[in-house]
Amino acid sequence: MNKEIVHIMNDISSWLRYQKQLGVEIIPKGPELSAFLDHRVKNKMSLQGLTSTQEYRDEIPAPTDLDGLRKMVENCNRCELHKKRQNIVFGEGPENAKLVLVGEAPGREEDMQGLPFVGPSGELLTDMLNAVNISRKDVFITSVIKCRPPHNRTPGHEEIAACSSFLRHQLRLIDPPLILALGLVAAQTLLKEKAPLKSLRGRFHQLGNARVMPIYHPAYLLRSQGSRQLDLKRVAWQDLQILEKEYAKYR
Ligand code: URA
Repeated sequence: MNKEIVHIMNDISSWLRYQKQLGVEIIPKGPELSAFLDHRVKNKMSLQGLTSTQEYRDEIPAPTDLDGLRKMVENCNRCELHKKRQNIVFGEGPENAKLVLVGEAPGREEDMQGLPFVGPSGELLTDMLNAVNISRKDVFITSVIKCRPPHNRTPGHEEIAACSSFLRHQLRLIDPPLILALGLVAAQTLLKEKAPLKSLRGRFHQLGNARVMPIYHPAYLLRSQGSRQLDLKRVAWQDLQILEKEYAKYR
């Protein structure tokens, strides 16, 4: 059988498996599925890393660039969060970034502006990057969840399940060698881990073609106080230095 057809069938079968996990029993051939089938078959596309990296399984009908994926997220109503959003926060940065930063979910400022990390934790994040000579404009910044949870609560399991396929797709399109997972939700979602951040941080974890460094979320650093805050910042500083060394290889 033609190799491209095998790729397409693999894509379709992993997408169907994902839908089944979500509890979907019947898939009507609506416009989204038709567009996916037409596009894949006509263009004989195979997405980077799709067959070689099991961790980056194809979980959604597959736009082949970030603009296409952004449009898909703009139309998303997979969970309740779409009802109250001002804007989706898709993420920003170069499509060929060597480092992708993944946060948890947009806050108030991000929801208003449609941009990632523009509130108080964004300021700290920019300072943290500058401290290790990484320019914010060179990295791609996004979050697990693309719409703001009310009162900035931690996103629920269903919300993460509904949204994280967009994140995986972003990562597959950008195909970065390095990922910085900001906080517990990003680290656990990317690594499919249940361990606490303190046991995940401080080292790289392989994820497909990429290596993931979990680190404390800037908002967590801002929320903590006194000597605890100093300890956490010291640890985050150590982790950033490990990242800096690796990132230097890709500049
Ligand atoms: N925190 C996040 O995790 N993401 C944002 O975009 C902003 C704050």
